[in-house]
Amino acid sequence: MKNFTSYKELGLVNSRDMFAKAVTGGYAIPAYNFNNLEQLQAIIMACVETSSPVILQVSKGARSYANQTLLRHLAAGAVEYAAELGKSVPIVLHLDHGDSFELCKDCIETGFSSVMIDGSHLSYEENVKLTRQVVEYAHQHDVTVEGELGVLAGIEDDVHAAHHTYTEPDQVEDFVSKTGVDSLAIAIGTSHGAFKFKPGEEHEIRLDILAEIEKRIPGFPIVLHGASSVPQELVQMINAHGGKLKDAVGISEEQLRAAARSAVCKINIDSDGRLAMTAAIRKVLDEKPEEFDPRKYLGPARDSLKQLYIHKIVNVLGSNGKA
Ligand code: G3H
Ligand code: 13P
Ligand code: ZN
Repeated sequence: MKNFTSYKELGLVNSRDMFAKAVTGGYAIPAYNFNNLEQLQAIIMACVETSSPVILQVSKGARSYANQTLLRHLAAGAVEYAAELGKSVPIVLHLDHGDSFELCKDCIETGFSSVMIDGSHLSYEENVKLTRQVVEYAHQHDVTVEGELGVLAGIEDDVHAAHHTYTEPDQVEDFVSKTGVDSLAIAIGTSHGAFKFKPGEEHEIRLDILAEIEKRIPGFPIVLHGASSVPQELVQMINAHGGKLKDAVGISEEQLRAAARSAVCKINIDSDGRLAMTAAIRKVLDEKPEEFDPRKYLGPARDSLKQLYIHKIVNVLGSNGKA
């Protein structure tokens, strides 16, 4: 049996306090995915510079790409790294889209302070049962749990849902009370990946459904997945340097800002970061074909990612100064 490592030994925090403050303060915490050192550095630099709390997310794909133990040590290192940069910001290490009790348990036992159990593809009853099982185990270790109701369109762990199934406001109160979750991810029209909508297609997010959900569970922390905005200047930069990204469109930042002012207290952004890094790397390799030192293209990619994350914190999430 592995040794149990509590996130508390690593200087990490769970999301409870962070969410309580974000709900009353009218802002959202950035939940940024990371798979490697440069992404982690960019996230921490951006959060220290803006004094923002942060949720570091690890997906199943990230675990198999980078190794969960290494990612956990990177996250623990981030606590010290932030202090070295001049500011101790609260850091949550969160499992993104956990799909089984065993995976969540393994993460809880190896230093994660928060887990998502995504039962959104199951029947309502099975989602409740699985989520409840994870909550019971997680809460014994003071780890917070995110559940999900409703199905987002887009690509998620290689599963592609063609249409949204919006969260049913009538179900949220029952789900929250039966499962005991600490936060709830909802489907109101956001979508995973860079190709969320066809250009010109209607893609307003349903702030009316969000308002309805808030009425049923006032003050309860709500999470938005699939919240990348797919900045067109990044798509153009990628394509100008040899890329082929067609018809990539995302969520409006104004709408996300409105959501963050309400009970939405965690906003997940991954694809925009991928675009920022790829654009910077393509530019360097296109303009300097003689370059072969990875630091010469990963460094600019990291800078570009940091700027993107600062922009999100200040102009979309409103979490600057809240650390
Ligand atoms: O929602 C999915 C996240 O963007 C993580 O993506 O599973 O390819 O690491 P991934
Ligand atoms: P994006 O693909 O819109 O960045 O969403 C990321 C996400 O929801 C991670 O869980
Ligand atoms: Zn997601």
